[in-house]
Amino acid sequence: MRFVFLVCCLIPLSAAAQEDGPQPISTRTGVFTAEQALKGQELFTVVCGECHQPEDFLEGFLEGWAGQTADVLFKEIRATMPEDSPGSLRSSEYAAVIAFLFQLNGLEAGEENLPGSTRRLKEILIALPEGEKAGDS
Ligand code: HEC
Repeated sequence: MRFVFLVCCLIPLSAAAQEDGPQPISTRTGVFTAEQALKGQELFTVVCGECHQPEDFLEGFLEGWAGQTADVLFKEIRATMPEDSPGSLRSSEYAAVIAFLFQLNGLEAGEENLPGSTRRLKEILIALPEGEKAGDS
């Protein structure tokens, strides 16, 4: 008497669901949390509010960055702002301010904070909210 075990079919289903390589994600897929954006708003008011109004980052702001990855925006802001003290915030604080600017521009919050790491931000493509196209006007 022999028992035959069908071990051939035990390949985990999750392996089949994985695409090859990391997929680029975009700001349309909820790349910050609402809580983070709120913290960013507070920081913005205190740190950036001296020279900027939130409205300064509405018209054309996101359009100007669409198509680039989020690390480029992060590095630009960190290298130049606040103008009187560039680089003076923590990485997580710059990320929070950017989350606020994303939310201000109509992007939806999600489950995870926007990372403060440029390596991870590089995987996030800046895109306008669903239904808006760069150059439409
Ligand atoms: C002391 C004044 C001052 C403070 C504080 C300041 N900024 Fe600015 N910011 C400026 C000036 C002036 C410009 C225009 C500079 C230029 O265009 O070269 C500017 C430009 C910018 C731009 C580019 C404008 C655009 O439409 O792309 C961004 C983004 C920006 N600031 C973000 C911030 C953020 C975020 C903070 C807070 C962390 C901040 N700034 C704090 C003075 C300031």
